[in-house]
Amino acid sequence: MLNGSWVRKVFCIVFCVVFCNTMFLPFAIAESGDEYLLPPPLSVEMKQEESMFRRMSVRDFTNDTVTDEELSTILWAACGFQSDGDRTIPGINTTFAGIIYVLKEDAAYIYNPVNHSLVFFKAGDWRDEVGWQYVAPIQLGLCYDTTLADSCFGGAELGQIGQNIQLMANALGLGTVVCGQIPPAIEPLGIPENQEGMIVMPLGHPISVYDFRNRPLWFSTFPRLKTSPISLSTALETRNESTSFHGTLSKAEISQFLWCTYGFSPYVDRSDQERNSIIRHRVVPSAHGYYPFKMYAVTENGVFYYQPNLLVKFNRYQVDFIGLPIVTYLFKKVTGDYRQEIAEASGQPSIASAPLIILPVLDIEMTRPPGKDDLSGEEDRRFWYFEAGAAAQNVLLEATAWNLSAALILPDDIPALQSVLYLDEESLPLFLLPIGT
Ligand SMILES: Cc1cc2nc3c(=O)[nH]c(=O)nc-3n(C[C@H](O)[C@H](O)[C@H](O)COP(=O)(O)O)c2cc1C
Repeated sequence: MLNGSWVRKVFCIVFCVVFCNTMFLPFAIAESGDEYLLPPPLSVEMKQEESMFRRMSVRDFTNDTVTDEELSTILWAACGFQSDGDRTIPGINTTFAGIIYVLKEDAAYIYNPVNHSLVFFKAGDWRDEVGWQYVAPIQLGLCYDTTLADSCFGGAELGQIGQNIQLMANALGLGTVVCGQIPPAIEPLGIPENQEGMIVMPLGHPISVYDFRNRPLWFSTFPRLKTSPISLSTALETRNESTSFHGTLSKAEISQFLWCTYGFSPYVDRSDQERNSIIRHRVVPSAHGYYPFKMYAVTENGVFYYQPNLLVKFNRYQVDFIGLPIVTYLFKKVTGDYRQEIAEASGQPSIASAPLIILPVLDIEMTRPPGKDDLSGEEDRRFWYFEAGAAAQNVLLEATAWNLSAALILPDDIPALQSVLYLDEESLPLFLLPIGT
């Protein structure tokens, strides 16, 4: 039995604990640098290629909450750590300059991939100000550290991060869209001076449920696409890069790799029932839907470039092809083995033995279509690096899925590469993507 003084003591202790917690709770939450561990990421069983078939931009969201498990999975996919200590993205020149701000209703946080946690940054609801384009339950602000990367390399890394976010969001039944920002909409948040905002990605549940129909209309000398046995989560968990490349690749494998850089989905999208539109999306997003790259393929037989859909030629700058068939080709530009010359021009001798080198070549003329916004300026170049980074990330994931090796290499000397590939000044090879065993 407790006597009166014990009851008083217990009451006082309980009162103090409850009072102090309540009183200091706002301060505890609002403390800059406080860290909140995220739950372990979910294992997503959707096949790697299926997630690329389903890639599309989503701009209208319901009010439904994004759960901590979903957010954890998307942030891990973006740039988290694999269990062996590697990352889901390669980084550019092994430097990781990307930073993700996570804007929730209560506050702004920074994703910390090392602890897989959210670090408190600033109190308040910043979602509408930073994510002014589209209303969503979460806004992701993609920035890069200017002491580690310039706007081009920063853009390339954010392209890899953004691609992982989009593939994983769509695979979870959520949606997102890449929104390019000049000037950076994240600036009012007061990010440190050495950080530059570039992209905002709203994240939430799509208002229109995904509705894809498999229409693999495919007129080509290329073999049909194949689906690997690897899931998106496994590809992200086991992705890595190589420094030496050997072996041979079949026509089907070359076709598959070119497709995953810039190809069209075999699915048509019927999600937008209001407008009753039928859209065939590509495997990567593109600013204004311009898709200004030519994907070059260099093999022992010559230099080629990939035409994802010949029908694009009839309507050069439009994204929506009303579900028209895919008429895909590989055009030969030069006959002969140019791999050694390319390896020398890029300062990377080890890639000369790669059976396939893909080069995303930016056609600057395509970034200023007549009568439309001119995105050919130096300040916009970061967005094209972003797009090439997204295509490169697909190659790295696809190489993992087929047990092959790949790497993302930045050329030392772009003019030297232009000369080897007979490219004019308006055609810029941004990366080299060697692929082999
Ligand atoms: C670097 C970059 C910037 C973009 N900026 C915007 C944007 O500001 N607003 C927007 O609605 N979509 C933006 N997009 C998305 C494109 O409009 C979209 O990818 C393109 O129209 C193709 O549509 P899809 O992704 O649904 O296939 C951007 C895409 C990229 C890669």
